[in-house]
Amino acid sequence: MTGAAARRALVTGASSGIGEATARKLASEGYRVALLARSGAELDRVRASLPRKDEHLSLVCDLRDDAALAKALETVRERFGALDLVVQNAGRGYLARVEQTEPALVRETLELNVAAVISLARLSLPLLRGGVDPVMVLVSSIVGRRGIPGQAVYAASKAALNSLGEALRIEWAEHRIAVCTLDVGLTRTPFFANQPNPSALPGPNLAGADDPARVAQAIWELDRAPQPEVWLSAKWRLLAIASLLAPRLADRLLARRMGGGWRAPTR
Ligand SMILES: NC(=O)c1ccc[n+]([C@@H]2O[C@H](COP(=O)([O-])OP(=O)(O)OC[C@H]3O[C@@H](n4cnc5c(N)ncnc54)[C@H](OP(=O)(O)O)[C@@H]3O)[C@@H](O)[C@H]2O)c1
Repeated sequence: MTGAAARRALVTGASSGIGEATARKLASEGYRVALLARSGAELDRVRASLPRKDEHLSLVCDLRDDAALAKALETVRERFGALDLVVQNAGRGYLARVEQTEPALVRETLELNVAAVISLARLSLPLLRGGVDPVMVLVSSIVGRRGIPGQAVYAASKAALNSLGEALRIEWAEHRIAVCTLDVGLTRTPFFANQPNPSALPGPNLAGADDPARVAQAIWELDRAPQPEVWLSAKWRLLAIASLLAPRLADRLLARRMGGGWRAPTR
């Protein structure tokens, strides 16, 4: 980035997977990056491997703790002055049939995947308002537009995120902040190993999964040319449309595609 000032980004969940790949991509494009996650050691590992490592920032913070988040954002304000890009990426899955779910784990999942996203939106608004061509990217999932058996809680959390994106992009139009939702497909990260899976349900086959660098590229492209919603899987986009227009057909297609004994409803 010669000539222009470096863009200033905050990436949540930057210690692993898609967030780590995004921090790498942005740093390689000349951004200054604030990396946020709970694990300080992992954040330092990622930051130490970035170009111009001293320009970036590690923020050790549990996003479910509003006071800790406010403090982390104060550090960003002191170091960066403002933010041009916020990537709301941190999140986790929950592999369980609804009747097997534990209330505490349900709440934790919704707290991180939904409530913490709302808190970060609220608390980062003043920093984004001071930014240049500000953008917020919400890292959602293809299952946010089509519920999926065995992942009902996770899918519901991402559906909430998609709804939030639709509302927020109109609310923040007056601030000229672009809000973009990215519907990510199956991606090779520690996500599946990290999710609670009390009954050891089989996880997805990651053979054809995307590389996190592909998602990072899409996030960077959204910052350059914001769009309301981008899908990283055309097939799932069709399935989501079918789910609105012909839900019985979509249920049959999904149950067949998933295998594993799932059956489409017959009544
Ligand atoms: N992988 C996929 O196939 C896939 C598909 C669609 C969408 N997505 C979405 O992509 C996003 C990133 O997932 P990933 O695949 O990269 O998973 P991942 O490798 O498990 O990374 C999750 C990140 O979130 C952070 N995190 C978890 N709990 C946190 C908390 N309470 N406070 C702060 N940070 C927290 C983790 O760091 P710490 O543990 O150090 O806090 C980690 O950096 C998620 O929103 C996920 O839903 C993933």
